[in-house]
Amino acid sequence: YRKLAPFPKNFLWGSASAAYQIEGAYQEDGKGRSVWDEFVRIPGKTFKATNGDVAVDHYHRFEEDVALMAKAGLKAYRFSISWPRILPNGKGAINEAGLAFYNRLINELIAHDIEPIVTIYHWDLPQALQDEYGGWESRQIIEDFTNYAGLLFERFGDRVQHWVTLNEQNVFITHGYLTAEHPPAVTDAKRTYQANHMANLANASAIKLFHEKGYQGGIGPSFAYSPTYALNADPANQIAADNAEQLNADLWLDVYAWGRYPKLVMTYLKQNGLAPEITAADRDLLANPLAHPDFMGLNYYQTMTVTTNPLEGGVGLTKQNTSGKKGTSQASGLPGVYKTADNPFMQQTDWDWNIDPEGLRIALRRIESRYGLPVLITENGLGAYDTLAADGQINDDYRIAFLKAHVKAIQEAITDGVTVIGYTTWSFTDLLSWTNGYQKRYGFVYIDRDETDEKELKRYPKDSFYWYQRVIKSNGEII
Ligand code: BG6
Repeated sequence: YRKLAPFPKNFLWGSASAAYQIEGAYQEDGKGRSVWDEFVRIPGKTFKATNGDVAVDHYHRFEEDVALMAKAGLKAYRFSISWPRILPNGKGAINEAGLAFYNRLINELIAHDIEPIVTIYHWDLPQALQDEYGGWESRQIIEDFTNYAGLLFERFGDRVQHWVTLNEQNVFITHGYLTAEHPPAVTDAKRTYQANHMANLANASAIKLFHEKGYQGGIGPSFAYSPTYALNADPANQIAADNAEQLNADLWLDVYAWGRYPKLVMTYLKQNGLAPEITAADRDLLANPLAHPDFMGLNYYQTMTVTTNPLEGGVGLTKQNTSGKKGTSQASGLPGVYKTADNPFMQQTDWDWNIDPEGLRIALRRIESRYGLPVLITENGLGAYDTLAADGQINDDYRIAFLKAHVKAIQEAITDGVTVIGYTTWSFTDLLSWTNGYQKRYGFVYIDRDETDEKELKRYPKDSFYWYQRVIKSNGEII
């Protein structure tokens, strides 16, 4: 038994969302098209061909949503800005109506004592930049992303204290260029690491600008981190786990924090003809301390367990299943590197994601030990089927149990010595789960719509809403 340290007084209890998943209004008030506006129209890409044209209509109902946030007692709300709403062509002409929407949202949050945490990029790249030069694969993205970020700093920097540059670069790059689950739906490992390098440079360049201009507050990327376990104490499996950790985590985190690629991963990529081309100027930018984050954003959902994978005939990548049904765990991996395995200690969500609160503590401890950066937990939550009862109640005890265990894990990590700034759960309201439609719900607030029927988009607080309200009120003392 040990006494747990309390949550810091100014701990940012919050919730999160992303523009495409909630806003709707996809072609209103001068907004340009994003790559997701196009991608969802390709048959077979999303569950029941669902799109975010209307989403949960947050664009028109943000006041109602912010009032609910205030009722829950949120201290912070993380949301993303839609790049094509601000710059319909990705660059050049500014759409003032788009900026005005986010101005109203930010002011509304502040008026309710909720700190706005702004994600600059949550996957909705302007289609115009994809068409013009191939989006993330071109060096031109660095300048355009930096200018876009600079515009947001200029307009909102007086009121925003925490900025997230790129949401889950590891996900949008690998899903976009390796497994084709996201736009631009490419399957090419060489192009994956090249586009990833451009994203690293864009991220570094925007952070450097923020620091050079001396804006208040802090900035950092959000990383989707799934710590890896070896299936057992077989040393060969330990090597496999280390391989996975370096390839799936260090490859991004080392670059963010230290501005250099991990040597073992680069050796592997070079041996396989997959290494990105890195110029001397690129190295200088990445290594510049001004280009390094003030905090690490952590999106945590689950851990991964691995074993060895034979080089000849080994298991390769598998794609996400968008059939909408509970999937069956399928092994995936890289021949000669690692292969995923079922962990006998885990239970799974309705979508076969491992439920592992201790994994969050592990992720927090690793980031602290390796990089010594404060951590802002920018996402964590449970995607599940919820049922709206006839009396308007949503009994989501399973979500409460999930979140409770994760809050406990954060407190354990804080007690271990990790600096955690805040916790913005995924998500505040239900929203569009990119490829899984509206049936995979994450929110504290149920939204009455499904894939085929928007209904009235009525909001209903779930049981977890009232649970979180108590947690926040007691600053994590009562979970
Ligand atoms: C993260 C994303 O990858 O996980 C969110 O940043 C996303 O945008 C969340 O919704 C949950 O993933 P999914 O596929 O269950 O919606």
